[in-house]
Amino acid sequence: MAYRSISISEFLITMANVIIMGAQWGDEGKGKIVDLLTEQADVVVRFQGGHNAGHTLVVEGKKYVLHLIPSGILHAKLCVIGNGVVLDPSALLQELQELDNHGISITGANFKISPITQLIMPYHRELDVAREKRKGKGKIGTTGRGIGPAYEDKVARRGIRLGDLYNRQIFEAKLQDNLAYHNFMLENFYNAGTFTMETIRDDYLRMADTIAPFVDDVPVILANAMDAGQAVLFEGAQGTMLDVDHGTYPFVTSSSVIAGGACSGAGVGPTRIHQVLGVAKAYTTRVGSGPFPTELTDAVGEHLFKVGQELGASTGRARRCGWFDAVVLRHAARVNGLTGLAITKLDVLDGIPSLKVCVAYNRNGRRLENMPSDPSILDVCEPIYEELPGWSEATSGIERMEDLPKNARDYLAFLESVTGVPTRIVSTGPDRKQTIILDNPFG
Ligand code: IMP
Repeated sequence: MAYRSISISEFLITMANVIIMGAQWGDEGKGKIVDLLTEQADVVVRFQGGHNAGHTLVVEGKKYVLHLIPSGILHAKLCVIGNGVVLDPSALLQELQELDNHGISITGANFKISPITQLIMPYHRELDVAREKRKGKGKIGTTGRGIGPAYEDKVARRGIRLGDLYNRQIFEAKLQDNLAYHNFMLENFYNAGTFTMETIRDDYLRMADTIAPFVDDVPVILANAMDAGQAVLFEGAQGTMLDVDHGTYPFVTSSSVIAGGACSGAGVGPTRIHQVLGVAKAYTTRVGSGPFPTELTDAVGEHLFKVGQELGASTGRARRCGWFDAVVLRHAARVNGLTGLAITKLDVLDGIPSLKVCVAYNRNGRRLENMPSDPSILDVCEPIYEELPGWSEATSGIERMEDLPKNARDYLAFLESVTGVPTRIVSTGPDRKQTIILDNPFG
């Protein structure tokens, strides 16, 4: 296959409003890809999840870990948090402070939050932890940040939204109702600690003052930007296999991770999206419990873990590692309508003599090409692998496709053929510069 490497700006000429999202179980390296493409975008939007996400960026040798604020903030672009996010104000203020310590100034001009964003409250965190404890061995392995309980309150129509903090009467009434319900559950069902109204109220009202300059009408801001011809990047958190509907339920997060979630989670119509770029590692990782058909517990798994430095950016937990799974990727391609792939961490495979790619599953002698709708079936599935030769040369930092060893190019071409999605970006290291940007097949 003939490849031509191009510049970021040439690549972006063909892109307008783009969703960048995880095509596996999260931690695919989306932060770096978003950061890379943000250079040419005007607005960057988070549309789901909360501070359970952790995006590690290395810019000119300096490492940044962002949880809530879009990675675009390092480029002084307009950064937006949409209504699909669950917002923990204390986590936000801490992140703002850390960015300020790095000399990155955030004002109401470059950062906006939708007033209809749901808030994570202290009792959500307590519920999250208490619930996991109660589940014992069957726990989901959540990040313990209160994400699930906050989304539950949203759907139960009792959630407290950011805008409520600016109407004290409404806020107090909602908080009182919520506390009556959640304190009862915490005390009587979970045997956990309870909360008093006054402490939460005073804390949240104090934080509301600091957040006030950022509160704005996100759908209007985004529509105006798009009408003016600006490019908008939607920055996904987590990954497709953690989507509340299309992931390995119930071992998932509680938000709509998939591309469709960008529309509902930001207040943008699907007709305004032009590209959906899926980010996938050249192998697979997953944090927390749940099925993972290509998981490796041998020396190769150890290599991926060590060389890939597979420790969670948010919780520091060890990630489970395994071979690339094309069944997962084809599923992601379908439910997200992927128009391209960004393959990250190719260099982590350097030196592995032989590489395996799962192309289908074997379920009691039957070949499954597609992800089963009941993820518990995965427990009885064996991956069907195709084996490819590895490469001994270092690929770290390579910026042009033609400079990669032939076996690495063949490996990438194989991924393209078994996923059915063209590769548009290949990442060969954590820094912005360590990237191969390919021709846009739709250009
Ligand atoms: P929660 O989102 O904290 O409720 O966790 C639910 C599941 O999603 C757990 O398996 C977490 O490990 C996983 N998860 C949540 N956020 C991330 C992420 O940013 N990267 C990878 N896994 C995540």
